[in-house]
Amino acid sequence: MQKIAVIYKSIHHHNTEKVLKEVQKEIPMDLYEVSDLHDTDLSSYDMIGFASGIYNSDMHKSLADFVSLSPALPRKSFILYTCGTNNYYYASKFRKMLSQRGIEVVDIFHCKGHDTYPKIFRPIGGIAKGHPNEKDIQKAKAFVKNLVYID
Ligand SMILES: Cc1cc2nc3c(=O)[nH]c(=O)nc-3n(C[C@H](O)[C@H](O)[C@H](O)COP(=O)(O)O)c2cc1C
Repeated sequence: MQKIAVIYKSIHHHNTEKVLKEVQKEIPMDLYEVSDLHDTDLSSYDMIGFASGIYNSDMHKSLADFVSLSPALPRKSFILYTCGTNNYYYASKFRKMLSQRGIEVVDIFHCKGHDTYPKIFRPIGGIAKGHPNEKDIQKAKAFVKNLVYID
């Protein structure tokens, strides 16, 4: 069983944090809000998850900053993100950056998260309303479970 730490940033509606906290109810993993990490030793973890909303087509910048300042990170990782409009490529840049640092990305999960950022959709309460929903959370649990039990 893999020992997992997840580093996250979830600023818009706490959509990503909600997914993580629900997953954590079933699957043991340590969650760290990226701003709370100060010289925390993560070298004992087998795998590290990076999680955030998508902000202007990218993962939150603080995660990339964290990686660039952290010399001793586990070599295996996964990415989880929530976004207003489902897009499989939002984590591409982040994934490339991890690969360049020698950190393998084993898998990527994403689901929709309520988004009130585009002004044009605010009169109707934003987009992806009600997400992450129960189905999203079940899928996220299955995703992480699959990772926890790999060799
Ligand atoms: C400044 C900003 C930029 C965003 N840019 C995108 C985007 O490019 N594509 C997208 O699908 N969603 C975008 N969103 C929506 C968020 O990714 C979505 O609501 C996500 O679930 C937020 O996660 P959080 O609540 O964990 O922060 C943006 C939201 C904000 C606040």
